Amino acid sequence: MLGAARGQPAPVTGTRPLALVSGGSSGIGFELAAQLAQRGHDVAISGQGDRVDEAAERLREHGVAAHPHQGDAGTYEGVESFWTFVTDLGRPVEVACLNVGIGLGGAFADSDLAEHLRVVAVNVAGLVHLAKRVTDAMLAQGRGRILVTSSISATTPTPYETVYGPSKAFGFAFAESLREEVRHAGLTVTALLPGATDSEFHHRAGMGDTQYGDNTWKNDRTLVARQGIDALFAGDDQVVGGDEATRQQAADNRATPETVKAARHAEGARPSGELSRG
Ligand SMILES: NC(=O)c1ccc[n+]([C@@H]2O[C@H](COP(=O)([O-])OP(=O)(O)OC[C@H]3O[C@@H](n4cnc5c(N)ncnc54)[C@H](OP(=O)(O)O)[C@@H]3O)[C@@H](O)[C@H]2O)c1
Repeated sequence: MLGAARGQPAPVTGTRPLALVSGGSSGIGFELAAQLAQRGHDVAISGQGDRVDEAAERLREHGVAAHPHQGDAGTYEGVESFWTFVTDLGRPVEVACLNVGIGLGGAFADSDLAEHLRVVAVNVAGLVHLAKRVTDAMLAQGRGRILVTSSISATTPTPYETVYGPSKAFGFAFAESLREEVRHAGLTVTALLPGATDSEFHHRAGMGDTQYGDNTWKNDRTLVARQGIDALFAGDDQVVGGDEATRQQAADNRATPETVKAARHAEGARPSGELSRG
């Protein structure tokens, strides 16, 4: 649902709080930005391709200002240029959704080292980089809210997504760690752990020939984003994103041996051409 200002030019007054969302041009990130826009925030969003401009156009239909930035979150220059773009707006960042992330399916042995290192560059190095800029700025202003998009993959080994799952486990532990450091300084840090969610994510990860290639059974990205933003404003440390079955899965994972979870995850993530090795 769009607000009353639908179809009208966005009033760019600069009086609304400013939020940034990395990877805000599609999927969960776009919905996070839409949730924040609906709650009266101007938004700065990043994406790798030029559709970030069209995404900003859609966000302006909520009657807020939306600032698109195109850059590669897997490079130092790309992350730094997004942060410079945001600070050049000349306003404090009240909310930061560190959301951008990429996946990579397939057997570890069968994929290129460069692809694995790119997952680390975007999901780990890029996260640390933007988090450092955001945290320093929020500490200086004495307030701010940070949301880190991790994954339910943080609660299980992820064979056939061998580097992806651990990269999201990094994000989860990082969020919980940073939270403890800054909670007395007026900042909150919240980890969002979505279950499988309907977006382009798994196709882009080369997982179209697995159970994850089918979007019909996955969680609704609008629901996941709403749960994330609700938890952000509640100041919660973490929230599982998705339906009741997804929340139950996360709870079960915490009580299940790693070897059992690994075998279970392999069933869903193994490419159709790959034989089970038992
Ligand atoms: N979908 C799921 O099942 C699921 C489950 C758990 C966690 N997550 C996490 O949720 C987050 C968002 O995923 P999603 O499902 O929304 O994926 P998505 O639909 O593929 O969207 C990814 C977003 O990140 C941007 N992006 C990708 N690579 C980039 C790069 N190198 N530089 C700058 N921007 C880049 C994309 O922009 P362009 O389109 O311009 O490239 C897009 O805005 C990720 O951190 C992911 O790990 C997803």
